[in-house]
Amino acid sequence: VQRTLLRGRILDFNAAPRDENDTEAYNYLEDGAILISNGQIEATGEFAPLSAYAQDAEVIDHRPNLLMPGFIDTHIHFPQVQVIASWGDQLLDWLNNYTFPEETRFAEQAHAENMASHFYDFLTNHGTTTAVAYCSVHSTSVEAYFEEAARRNMCMIGGKVMMDRNAPDGLLDTPQSSYDDSKALIKKWHGQGRAHYAITPRFAITSTPEQLEMAGALVSEHPECFVQTHLSENHDEIAFTAELYPDAPDYLGVYEHYGLLTPKMLLGHSIHLTEREIDVLASTQAKPVFCPTSNLFLGSGLFDDAGLSARGITNAIATDVGAGTSYSMLQTLNEGYKILQLQNQKLHPLRAFHWITRGNAAALGLEDKIGTLAPGTDADIVVLNANATPEMALRMERAESLSEELFILQILGDDRSVDAVYVAGREMKQTANGAAAPSLQ
Ligand code: GUN
Ligand code: FE
Repeated sequence: VQRTLLRGRILDFNAAPRDENDTEAYNYLEDGAILISNGQIEATGEFAPLSAYAQDAEVIDHRPNLLMPGFIDTHIHFPQVQVIASWGDQLLDWLNNYTFPEETRFAEQAHAENMASHFYDFLTNHGTTTAVAYCSVHSTSVEAYFEEAARRNMCMIGGKVMMDRNAPDGLLDTPQSSYDDSKALIKKWHGQGRAHYAITPRFAITSTPEQLEMAGALVSEHPECFVQTHLSENHDEIAFTAELYPDAPDYLGVYEHYGLLTPKMLLGHSIHLTEREIDVLASTQAKPVFCPTSNLFLGSGLFDDAGLSARGITNAIATDVGAGTSYSMLQTLNEGYKILQLQNQKLHPLRAFHWITRGNAAALGLEDKIGTLAPGTDADIVVLNANATPEMALRMERAESLSEELFILQILGDDRSVDAVYVAGREMKQTANGAAAPSLQ
């Protein structure tokens, strides 16, 4: 077995640090190394003893860059690669005017395959090694999504959107067809290589009660799968949901009624919540997902991270491209920092980098596979350069601590700060001149 030893400055997390004095929560090595064999991490530690131990290994020297677990994006829309940056609307008009028409194109296999190739290039170039995506209503889009993930050996989560009303004809399924198609896709893809399936009713507005009933059946028949939907993103959305489900106590009550709430459920946005909804989130351990760039772009509102955390709820964080405006989890943290500032909440950079790595892995229940540099986990690693641009380098001259360096990455960083990305031990970052990633058969 050819082993690889990545040398660099290493940052890894045990828990979410409050700040740099919370030294139990993170490990930092100035001259560290990660030993990779067979696509997995065999060991992480100081460079000198590891290089003595693994004398056969090829050494790749990434100093002075930082090595961290690859980033995890817990909410993104694959069929919205050509929707990102669509002007003027808030949620419901944005869906009707831009998003739904674009998603109809994913019925066509060649289009879905072409977009999947771009989508994965964008993710890895921005340092994201795992994402949880909504595909379109068409099985073709799910096939393209998982086929491309398999080609790249990426740990990806996703599913066919279930939607049977309030959208154009070309985007509608039926309760029965959505059940049958999801079932077939689960059978084909869940647990195939590194793939996981997410049962995906889009949101209450685009599903009839009959369809949510079918979604509930899928959830109880497939407890191994994730579940994802949207919750309380926008006031008009909440009002329309109340009209469509007049018997529900509130928005979350709709999903609760159909048995969708489990610890494996991800609820995009979760911004405008009632006390009862927060209680239900706490008791079911369903996971709210903070989508900062999207919430600003659509004017949706301010996510209450501290309030939900104080109730023992685990919040994930995500881009939500194409309402989100960047594939970069660094830019997501940048906007997240500002949203929390508006509420007098602080996002410490150590906590921020924990969030997009181990924190999101924990929200997914996948910490034993991704999100850390622990032995036995998959070798998904990002190499970060805080001197990537002249502006960053000049600012870095005045940085005196790891936390300051991380904060510069958090605020000023993007794909240019990602020097390399390893997916299951294989380098996947495209070169600066846009050349293709290493050729894939
Ligand atoms: N709610 C239902 N569908 C969507 C979507 O595609 N994007 C966002 N941001 N919210 C949604
Ligand atoms: Fe979304």
